[in-house]
Amino acid sequence: MCGIVGYVGPKEAVPILMDGLKKLEYRGYDSAGLAAVVGGAIERRRAPGKLTNLEKVLATDPLAGSTALGHTRWATHGKPSEENAHPHTDPSGAVAVIHNGIIENYLEIKDRLAAAGAKFESETDTEVIAHLVAEKLAQFQKTGAAPKPDLMEPLLFEAVRRALGEVRGAYAVAVLWSKAPNVIVAAKTASPLIIGLGEGETFLASDIPAFLAHTRKAVFLEDGEMAVLKRGGATFFDLSGKKLVKTPTTITWDRTMAEKGGYRHFMLKEIMEQPSSCEDTMRGRFFPLKGVLERDCGMNADILKTTRSVQMIACGTAYHACLVGQYWLETLVGVPTRVETASEFRYRETTITADDLVIAVSQSGETADTLAAVKLAKEKGAKVLAVCNTVGSALTRAADWTLYTHCGPELGVASTKAFIGQLTALAVLVLHAAIGRGTMTQTQGRAFVDELVKVPGWIRAALKLDAAVHKIALKFAKKEHFLFIGRYVNYPIALEAALKLKEISYIHAEGYAAGELKHGPIALIDTEMPVVVIATKSRLLEKTLSSLQEVKARGAQLIVLATEGEGDFKDIEHVLRLPPVPELLSPLVNIIPLQMLAYHISDLRGCDVDQPRNLAKSVTVE
Ligand code: AGP
Repeated sequence: MCGIVGYVGPKEAVPILMDGLKKLEYRGYDSAGLAAVVGGAIERRRAPGKLTNLEKVLATDPLAGSTALGHTRWATHGKPSEENAHPHTDPSGAVAVIHNGIIENYLEIKDRLAAAGAKFESETDTEVIAHLVAEKLAQFQKTGAAPKPDLMEPLLFEAVRRALGEVRGAYAVAVLWSKAPNVIVAAKTASPLIIGLGEGETFLASDIPAFLAHTRKAVFLEDGEMAVLKRGGATFFDLSGKKLVKTPTTITWDRTMAEKGGYRHFMLKEIMEQPSSCEDTMRGRFFPLKGVLERDCGMNADILKTTRSVQMIACGTAYHACLVGQYWLETLVGVPTRVETASEFRYRETTITADDLVIAVSQSGETADTLAAVKLAKEKGAKVLAVCNTVGSALTRAADWTLYTHCGPELGVASTKAFIGQLTALAVLVLHAAIGRGTMTQTQGRAFVDELVKVPGWIRAALKLDAAVHKIALKFAKKEHFLFIGRYVNYPIALEAALKLKEISYIHAEGYAAGELKHGPIALIDTEMPVVVIATKSRLLEKTLSSLQEVKARGAQLIVLATEGEGDFKDIEHVLRLPPVPELLSPLVNIIPLQMLAYHISDLRGCDVDQPRNLAKSVTVE
């Protein structure tokens, strides 16, 4: 997610904004910039990379002004560069915009504006907002008398309001206009935006830490709301222009808590962000059912039609996402699919050729084994599609195309929201591959989309199990062994749940295909062994219940994931009920309580949840 800061007040804005952006650095970013209204004009300073680069620019070319915006960019559209760094302006330079989110229909808007002669300087979706606001302001000036100074603010408000009426997607946006030197207009839909109310000064931020040093009085904008910030405070409206009354909140968090959004750990914050990770990764990628992938990642969807087979490579959690993707590709697309850990693939005599498509999945895009495996695949002539969360990372530069997950920075070493993002991106890919290969009709494709768009809601329902999961964690936190079992698309979830538990609680945990128990692992079962059984709605539920009975008969301590209304588990003490979900999509929901189980057990054991021993967030060495 990008970092947003803004200031309207009596002081020089730049020191306040730079300090605010530094307080947001933990969120991760790849470029930064500022804009201020100075002497009736907008001035900008931007730099790629870290804030120190922007400080160097300011040292030689200071920026004055007491109405200003600042931004740290986490790239979603367009590589990290000065040209793509925010703030963005309209061609006249009179309107400056910063933005966090994704404008789904930015290409349509950009095409319309370009056809009318507009020139764009960046690859970003954000720039179209600056053009739209300027277009509305120009229309006012054409139709009405030259606006009087006291009309500038309402004019800017109305121009932003009308511009946002043309965009679809997620935004936290803030706008400056050179002719309205003491006002910032802001708006929010789906991305966070908070107003800080000081004494004779007003702040804007995407996250509380940015202005906590100046005021604890905050107003949280809700979706579809706008704010006009001036020195004396802020006024609030909805997108229809109706005035709103909003009650300020007093923030009691300290800074560390504020960085984690009030959660005790980044991992818990990121678990809770997973509905948005799913929504943001799906956003704008369904319709039209043909042509989305070409537009989104430049990929020729024909390759999905003609590829002989798919080879998926990844590590860790990303590997487990590929295992789920394999079931989807074979079930819905009918393409032979293999999955291999990158560390194995890179040293085997692979048989892939130019007729095969390689899909490399990685949150960081910097995992050494995955990069080496991709290098080998390309030497064999295969085309490579990356699924990645980090724009401009090494993997995205090595691959032929990248389908980005839009989860924002994932700071906890244990991957959670990135996993949901990877599954979501693979589901989007499967949809378009199935349509392309004709294994799904347009009607079936739309039915699949109808189910996919419900996943964030199902994840939200699963997150409500947190208290019940915590109660179970209290009972099992001291265990030294755990088994997780699942079948079909939930076998990878058993593996992923075991990885989550072992990497943050240091408990020896293993995931198994339920049908494998009798081939050895059942020897491990005794009255001390906790066994988590993924027994949600499935055509194989009866088989899974047999496996459950096998371990129950040997005294295992059972924890069961079940579907509301499915299966009679009255003799089982710990049953977590999940909403009814189509089996193929159930991995996106079933993993949620198991992530929370790992989190709570780790926390109860006093482990370092966010930075577990021996682990790094990105394994950039062999
Ligand atoms: C997952 O919780 C681990 N942190 C680890 O397995 C991780 O998924 C793996 O190292 C792959 O990282 P990547 O997605 O950045 O390539």
